[in-house]
Parts: sequence; C-alpha cells; structure tokens
Amino acid sequence: MEPFRILQLSDIHFGARSHYGPGLDLRAYQLADEIQACLGDLPTSFDCVVFSGDLTCYGEEMGFRVSQRLAEQFVLRGWMRVEDLLIIPGNHDILFGERSDDAGSYHGPLMREDRESLYRKYYYLMTLRELPGECLGVLKMFPDRKIAIAGLDSCRIESWENAGFGYIGFDQLHREMEDLWERHEQSSAEPWRRLAFVHHHLDVMLWFDQAMATPDWRRSISITLDAEDILKGLAKYGVDFVGHGHMHRPDVREERNVHAGEARIISAGSVAVRASDCGDLHQFYLFELYEGPSPAMRVYDFRRNLQASGSLHWTRREHVLPLLPRRTYSRDFDVWADFRDRKLRAEWNLHLDNRALAHYYLRGGPAQRKKAIEEISRRMRPVWVARGKLHPDQVSLEKALGRVEEYLLSHAPEALKEYESLLGSDDFQAFEQFILQKIEDLGYDTPGPG
Ligand SMILES: [Fe+2]
Ligand SMILES: [Fe+2]
Repeated sequence: MEPFRILQLSDIHFGARSHYGPGLDLRAYQLADEIQACLGDLPTSFDCVVFSGDLTCYGEEMGFRVSQRLAEQFVLRGWMRVEDLLIIPGNHDILFGERSDDAGSYHGPLMREDRESLYRKYYYLMTLRELPGECLGVLKMFPDRKIAIAGLDSCRIESWENAGFGYIGFDQLHREMEDLWERHEQSSAEPWRRLAFVHHHLDVMLWFDQAMATPDWRRSISITLDAEDILKGLAKYGVDFVGHGHMHRPDVREERNVHAGEARIISAGSVAVRASDCGDLHQFYLFELYEGPSPAMRVYDFRRNLQASGSLHWTRREHVLPLLPRRTYSRDFDVWADFRDRKLRAEWNLHLDNRALAHYYLRGGPAQRKKAIEEISRRMRPVWVARGKLHPDQVSLEKALGRVEEYLLSHAPEALKEYESLLGSDDFQAFEQFILQKIEDLGYDTPGPG
C-alpha cells in the first residue's frame, strides 16, 4: 500500500514580514513553485497538507488572502483535495492589540473575537468548512486509511498579557479523541493511527546563550503552560507524534525520537518568513507513514540557507523513525480525576477578554483607552437597550462612560479604586453592574441622540 503522505508547512508568515516581495498572487505561486521544485522526483500528491499556524505576520487580512491563494494553488496543481487541508492557528494569526513597526501601521486593539472571526472566515474560505468548536482546533479523520490527525489550538489564551504563552487545554485533546472514538474507533475492527499537530512547542526551545544575549525588551521567551499535561495526554491516547512550529527552529530530534515510543516531538521551521526572523533558514517537512509488520515514518526535511551562495537551492535530508504498531488506548482511566483542574483552566480563558480590556483601559495610552471605552460600550449596549435605558440608535454610551470616569477621577477616589479593581478582575458582570449603577446615580442616562 502507498504510504500516507503529509506535507507540513509551518510559520508561512505571509504579510508584512514575508520573505517574498509584494504581489498578492505572485507570492503564493512562487512558494508553490519552489516546493514543487524541491520535491524533485517525489510524488506531489498528499493525503493531508498541514498549515501549522502563523499563516500571517500580524493577523492581517492580506496574509490570510495569500495563504488562501497558496491553498488554491495546491488544489489546482492536484496536490491535495480541499477537504484534506488541516489548518491550526498560530499566535500571529490571532494576536490583538499589537503594534507593528514593520508594517508601519497600528493594527489594534482588535478584541479577540474580531481576530477569531477573521481567522474563522479564512478557515472557511480555505477549507470550505466551518470550524466546529468553540476553540480553533480541528480533528481530521481518514477512515480509509484509519488515520486521525488532531489539530490542536494552542492559542486559546493568546492576548497581550499572555504574550509568549501557549495553552492547549486537556479538555480539547480529550474532546477530539472522544470524538474519534465515538465516530470511528469503537466500531472499527482494527485500531487507528493517531497523530497531532499544534503551533506552540511542547518543550523548551530557547537556546540559553541566545536568550542571554538578547536585550530584555525583545527577548522572545515562549512556553506552553500545559505542555506536561498534553504530553501525558498524548501518550495516554497513543498518539505517535506531534509536529509543531512557532520558534522557527526545525529539529527532527532523531537521537531521542528513534528510541521514543509515543508522543514524539518534531519541530518545524518557517517556510517563508523574512531571513532575520528565522536565522536565515527556511524549512518544511514531508512525512510518509508506512504500516505493515514494521511500521515506520520517513521524514523528508527540506532546508535552504538564505545566506549561502545560491540561496534558492533547497537541500533534502531523510530520517526514518520506527513507529509502534497501531493500538487501541485504554479508555478506562478516569480522565477528570487524572486531570482534575483542567476543565476549570479551560474555562479560565473565557475571562481573558475582559482582562485584556482592563489592560488597555488602565495601562494604555489615550488611543487604547478610547478603544476600550468603545468596546465596553459595545458590550453594554444590548443590556442598556433591553433595560430601556438607551434607544437603539443612541450613541451616547461612550460619552456617559467618559463622564462616569471623569466624575470618579475628580470626586470619588474610593469608588475609583473599586472601579479599577473591578476592571482588573475577571468579573465583567460585576463591573457592568457597577457602571450601570453609577450612571443611574449620576443621572447620565438621559435619552436622546448622542
Ligand atoms: Fe512564527
Ligand atoms: Fe508562533
């Protein structure tokens, strides 16, 4: 039987920091041409193509559009079917409140929901499917081949305050694996092979000397908060390997991975970011999975050094990693006892929007403050309209909020403290109650056009 072939492109970073010059379609053609050229004599048909996050530089629409063109190129060239594209988000795809020096423009602060809806829109345009869940992860199942690939969203707490922190949530992995069990595995005569892709890395990727040599203000330290839980979970679910991107440091870790069983980790580099963001190294992988009596994974590792003469020349290395036979996993462990507080932690991210809002409001400059007031007003507007406090067309909410703030600042230091601590808490409802009460107390809810 033909091997199952997965092409992984990570950290494409189309947009302001792309390696390629301007020209929307041209960038996609160029990259597709280069991939085609460096695959050489290898067949260009893939059972699954994975874009493992950071498709864009700043979540910019243009970056998503070029990624969409790239996906279209793959389909037009007969490399894959639309439904075989697996996309997961990277921190750059949903960051918000970010200032971009490179783009010379100010992108934020867009609230997380705005970023997510842009991501979801392009996810739909690229895959012709809606993202099913509340987070941005997705499970791909290939029943003919008995292979499942869990695409995990590691950007669930991505925010200004949490910059550098990945978080996957055991609940997400559990949900995807249960979904696989219910839909296929429980009725399958033979076990499935399970793999995973995620954007953030699951072990420490920073080189000590490099960390120490980097000035504080731009030190790029990144960790995945629940990496240990996830690795434990991947092993419990019999996931053979997890591929990731994020730090632009490719490594098959052959020494460790040849001997490892479950949950091997393979990190990908960036395939197309500008040279200064990837140590002059572009890279991508092709994985081939072979079943049979001695299952194995052949890893093709394609690289080019942007500094070397003839920098358009890609090199190819091959690694072979033995795989454990396909196996069923034990579902008799008490998942919630093993991972007791994971559900709570998953819920935690629901509050992060409000904390980000507070961040802008309390510590931002005038532009952030104005934007935060607009956002608070946007959230409070339906409540006010429902309570008959505000005519639906009225736009005076920002003004009323501004007045409350002015009053608290100049006349009510105690109330101001309470206001600020409510803003800094996770309890948006309590904050909203407080504001509504103050607006009523102060008589700022006079109807009329704003
Ligand atoms: Fe990246
Ligand atoms: Fe990243």
